[in-house]
Amino acid sequence: MPVVGDYERLAQSHLSRAAWDYYATGSNDMESLRDNLRAFRKYLLRPRILKGISRISTETHLLGYRAQSPLCISPSAMQRMAHPDGELATSRAMAQFHSCMVLSTYSTTALEEVIDQGNPHSSYWFQLYLYQNRPVSAELIRRAEVAGYRALVLTVDTPMVGRRLADARNHFKLPPPWRLANFPDDFQILTASERAAREANGPQLADHLSNESLGNRSDTSLTWQSCLPWLRSVTRLPIILKGVLTRADAALAVQHGCAGVIVSNHGGRQLDGVQASIDALAEVVKGAQGQLEVYFDGGVRCGADVFRALALGARAVFIGRPVLWGLAANGQKGVEAILHELQSELEDAMRLTGCATLTDIQAQCLYRTGYPIPSQL
Ligand SMILES: Cc1cc2nc3c(=O)[nH]c(=O)nc-3n(C[C@H](O)[C@H](O)[C@H](O)COP(=O)(O)O)c2cc1C
Repeated sequence: MPVVGDYERLAQSHLSRAAWDYYATGSNDMESLRDNLRAFRKYLLRPRILKGISRISTETHLLGYRAQSPLCISPSAMQRMAHPDGELATSRAMAQFHSCMVLSTYSTTALEEVIDQGNPHSSYWFQLYLYQNRPVSAELIRRAEVAGYRALVLTVDTPMVGRRLADARNHFKLPPPWRLANFPDDFQILTASERAAREANGPQLADHLSNESLGNRSDTSLTWQSCLPWLRSVTRLPIILKGVLTRADAALAVQHGCAGVIVSNHGGRQLDGVQASIDALAEVVKGAQGQLEVYFDGGVRCGADVFRALALGARAVFIGRPVLWGLAANGQKGVEAILHELQSELEDAMRLTGCATLTDIQAQCLYRTGYPIPSQL
C-alpha cells in the first residue's frame, strides 16, 4: 500500500534535477516549507468511541456544487515537465474522483483542453494572476468562462516571485517542447514598452519569459479597491482569493464580496518565515464569520492532515506537491493513486474518531499540544 512518501521518492528518481528542484523546493531557507509539514504534528486527533459508525460519507458542496470529497487539487504550474500528459492526466484523475481541480495560468496544456476531459460532476476553477497588461488577464477570464470554469482563483500572495534559490542555481527554464499553453504568444503578456524593447533586443526576453518569472509581470500596484471592482466588471464568475493568512484580510474578502478564500502560503514558495498554513487556518475562519467558504492548502501529506484542516474549519483541502509526485511517478494512474490513498486515510481517520460525515468533524476532534484542554471538550 504505497503512501505519499513512496510516490515522492519515485518522483525524484523519475525527474531531472532541475524539474525536481522546481517542484520540491521553496523560497530562501525554506523554513515555511518545512513548517507547513511540521506544524500539523501539534494538532492531535481525539477519538470518540462506540459511535456505531457503519457508513462514512465525505460528500460536500463547493460553491453550491456537489463534490464526493473535500479533497481537491491546487493549481501548480508546468505539469508536463512531470509527465507528458501533464494537466490532462491530473484532470482525468480528478474527473473520476468528482471533486475540484484548480488549473494554473501557467499550465502547459491549454485551459480549453483540460476541462474537456472533465464531467458535470466535477468542478474546474481557473487560477489567475492580474497582469499590468490588463487585456491579457481579461482575455484569459473570458476564455475560462466560455470553457466552463466555475470560479476564478486570484492568487494574491505573488506580487513578485519568491526567491527560489535552487531554481536560480539551476538557471531553471521550462524545457522544450513544453510551453505555457494558455498564452498563444509568449510575448502577449508584455506591456507595450516591453514589447518595443523586445523588438529591439530579439530573443533574450523569450528566454526570460519561459518560466515562473512570468509572475513578475503581475501588477504590483493592485489594491482591494482596484482589483475586485475590475474583476467584477469583466466577469460574473465567483471570485476566490488564494494566499490569505490573516483574520483582517479574510474580513476584507467578505466586505469585497469574494465567494471564498484559500488559506495558503503558496507551499512555502513565496514569503519565507511566514507562519505555517495550518496555523493560520483558525484565524482566517474567524475573520470569514461564515460569510464565505474557507479552503486550505499547504503541507497536506496524509489523510489525517486533511482531517485536521477540516476540523480547524476548512470546507475543502487542496493538494499541491503530492499530485505532482503521483503524476511524475505514473501519470494519470499515479494521480489517481494519490487521491485514493488520501481519501482512504481520511475515511480511516473519520471512522476512528467517530465521525460519519464531514459535519461531524469539528474543533473538538483535535487537541493542540501545549494548550490546556478547553473545558467544553
Ligand atoms: C511546482 C509548483 C507550482 C505551483 N504553481 C502555482 C501556480 O501557478 N499558481 C498558484 O496559485 N500556486 C502555485 N503553486 C502553489 C500551490 O497551488 C499550493 O499553494 C502549494 O503547492 C500547496 O502546498 P503543498 O505543495 O505543500 O501541498 C505551485 C506549487 C508548486 C509546488
